[in-house]
Amino acid sequence: MSASGKSLLGLWLYRTGEEWALKDGDPERFTFTTEKMPRGHIDSKNSVIFSLKNQVGGLARALQVFQDLGVNVLHIESRPSGRRDSEFEIMVDVECDNKRMEQLMSLLRREVAAINLSHYENGEALPPPTPTPLSASASFDFGEMPWFPRKISDLDRAQRVLMYGSELDADHPGFKDPVYRKRREQFAQIANAYKYGQPIPRIQYTSEEIKTWGTVLVTLHKLYVQHACVEYLENWPELVKYCGYREDNIPQLEDVNVFLKRKTGFQLRPVAGYLSPRDFLSGLAFRVFHCTQYIRHSSDPFYTPEPDCCHELLGHMPLLANPSFAQFSQELGLNSLGASDEDVAKLATLYFFTVEFGMCKQNGELRVYGAGLLSSVAELQHAITASHKIKRFDPDVTCHEECIITSYQNAYYYTDSFEEAKEKMREFANSIQRPFGLRYNPYTQSVEVLSNAEKIAALVSELRGDLCIVSNALRKIHAEEETVESITHMLQHGINVSPSPTESDTEEEMKKFKAEMK
Ligand SMILES: [Fe+2]
Repeated sequence: MSASGKSLLGLWLYRTGEEWALKDGDPERFTFTTEKMPRGHIDSKNSVIFSLKNQVGGLARALQVFQDLGVNVLHIESRPSGRRDSEFEIMVDVECDNKRMEQLMSLLRREVAAINLSHYENGEALPPPTPTPLSASASFDFGEMPWFPRKISDLDRAQRVLMYGSELDADHPGFKDPVYRKRREQFAQIANAYKYGQPIPRIQYTSEEIKTWGTVLVTLHKLYVQHACVEYLENWPELVKYCGYREDNIPQLEDVNVFLKRKTGFQLRPVAGYLSPRDFLSGLAFRVFHCTQYIRHSSDPFYTPEPDCCHELLGHMPLLANPSFAQFSQELGLNSLGASDEDVAKLATLYFFTVEFGMCKQNGELRVYGAGLLSSVAELQHAITASHKIKRFDPDVTCHEECIITSYQNAYYYTDSFEEAKEKMREFANSIQRPFGLRYNPYTQSVEVLSNAEKIAALVSELRGDLCIVSNALRKIHAEEETVESITHMLQHGINVSPSPTESDTEEEMKKFKAEMK
């Protein structure tokens, strides 16, 4: 994503005392203070309207001029350009004397692409602010489309638990254990009370729970060296180091949450049980992974009819720390927002046969990346030997496969890499009936609805900032022609195909993995 000042175009600023901060956002993300300077006679009010140069940090540099001169800013907004339909401009209402206004215009001209000044005499009111702030999500008629979260905090309203909330089914191993059931109620209460932005409560796990965890960890770990994909293994040492992945310790979700945020921006959110597919996929769109905190019943450490912390921590977390996999997961989630029930069901199936039961080819052999397999001793051993069940991933076919919860799958699907899975999913996404595109904005942690050419043009304008960074970097590193050609090819085709891990990569990861677990 762009680090350009243009990313801030869609944001309003509001004043808190002498501070200017983002409206409806985290004020720490963009604030500056207008230091008061001695003022002369204030002659008039002015509206300065300017468009930015196509370069990184343009907005910040322009606003710095106001601050440096101590000009009293009354209002700032971004709005569609009066010069060009496809561009946006910044309007800043200021109050200052004529002399300082001249200085301001002179300095500002150096920083912006075009500038205009409207003058209002004392007593004459400034024009009212444009009523609708620039937002890619404004004014689209959603009609009968299913509601979907638009900002990350909306996930508080997308928490429909379908199974095993605080109640257990009669065939659950813990159904007849009143102590276990009581414990599960505590976990359900924590998850149900959780709201976005809160730290995830830490759990004091019992010695019985820790023993169950240790049994599962030690047994599965022996299989990972042989069967887990490189991307899974490479993150394991850091999980041991930063999150306490040990036989005698169940890692705390909050520690893993902090770790993942640093690695890929993924966040965790406690959940009481099986979430509805729509709500679960919605979370992925915001890089939020819903995670159970309870553990399976101790009577059978190698069986659970539902996700538990062994499944989440051992199966999912190592790969959510991989950037390519994190992006794949998020794209799956974005495709689900506002999609029909039928399309969400297909996406949930594709999620199931990739993120939960997927395999990939590395150095000519099949490796596992699916969390359902990496957290199940029996099914992992079954899947890697059931060659007749292993098929090449094809979303159009795979989306009709039956998802089996309590037994082995009828089929497992593989790709050559996450990138291949991503590309295939992108093609599949074209079949989803939705009259707009969606893009996640990490600065505002919200999704932008790209429902008309104007909004898409605004996004392209922002992306140009990133492309500037790319071309400058290529120049600075004196990239060879071959590299430039390869990058140009990627841009033209809109894909980014990373090379598959080499044999030496794999061996190196195995060594690190084994050493770390000794
Ligand atoms: Fe899972």
